[in-house]
Amino acid sequence: MMRSAVRGIGSALPRRIMGNKEFEGLVDTSDEWIVQRTGIRQRHIAADDETTASLGEDAARKALENAGLEPGDIDLIVLATSTPNNTFPATAVEIQDRLGMHHGYAFDLQAVCSGFVYAITVADLHIRGGLARRALVIGSETFSRILDWSDRTTCVLFGDGAGAVVIEGIEGEGSSADRGIIASSLRSDGAQKDKLYVDGGPSTTGTVGHLRMQGREVFKHAVGMITDVIENVFAKADVTAGDIDWFVPHQANKRIIDASARKLGIAEEKVVVTVDLHGNTSAASVPLALAHAVADGRIKRGDLVLLEAMGGGFTWGAVLLRW
Ligand code: ACO
Repeated sequence: MMRSAVRGIGSALPRRIMGNKEFEGLVDTSDEWIVQRTGIRQRHIAADDETTASLGEDAARKALENAGLEPGDIDLIVLATSTPNNTFPATAVEIQDRLGMHHGYAFDLQAVCSGFVYAITVADLHIRGGLARRALVIGSETFSRILDWSDRTTCVLFGDGAGAVVIEGIEGEGSSADRGIIASSLRSDGAQKDKLYVDGGPSTTGTVGHLRMQGREVFKHAVGMITDVIENVFAKADVTAGDIDWFVPHQANKRIIDASARKLGIAEEKVVVTVDLHGNTSAASVPLALAHAVADGRIKRGDLVLLEAMGGGFTWGAVLLRW
């Protein structure tokens, strides 16, 4: 049975770090409120010359180097983003060009904060379906460009960055002992679309718009939705929470992460947390957290890793893979 296994990983962050204290001069907030309610201490903010394409390219180059591969070895790029460089063409084709890759195919995928979990699942299907042999799956965002910097309920929560993995088809036995993606579960519910959205777009206002969120409403739904898809993935793969080596959740709020891990029975020391360093980087959050835990030596070859995300739409999903 064909499995899509991770061969390399990389990440990129804008040069500028913005600490919580800086917000105290912008809106009516405090470092104490932000840390206590979210766990966020700082985030990276893109300069004018740092874009979703440039950060994505940087992360992709590092993932290729980590995999010991060249752009010529890749035949598919899937970029998860809600902050593309342009309405079209897809930012994925811009990254394809920046990498000097003039074969294969590339496209963007939009599922807001669940983007990377959706994208790696879609790339896995393209590999197992025989359309591609190796894929770059990238999550890259510049949410700072769509924030309302006068709205304290949203502007303190988000940051910019990118993460990327190279996945490739390998032979497996069809059990959860295989390396690669073992099971995925994706969901969405458009009835919740007004709880987290951007109030502009090409076909409506003709503007880019700003992010709007009913934070308390999102919070209320988050833990239940997250644990639902994870239990679905556990059932598909015939594993339990005790089998998980590393839980790499979407990094939106430390309280959501803690409550989800507690409900699932995943020990605190197995949870990868980077929300303190990066804030919520939407589709980049999961690959950034993964790259962080691989770089510091926690995630190693053969470990069972659980990814999870939820975001605007609502969209949500989970992926179980063996590193
Ligand atoms: N500083 C100080 N006070 C603030 C701030 C701030 N930055 N933001 C809000 N407040 C105030 C509110 O106005 C409110 O005041 P009030 O009681 O006088 O009305 C009070 O703090 C409490 O507000 P709540 O919204 O109830 O605070 P809560 O504890 O729910 O925390 C938060 C807010 C952090 C947004 C939380 O609800 C959350 O994390 N929600 C989920 C976000 C999320 O997971 N998003 C997912 C994906 S994102 C994506 O897809 C793009």
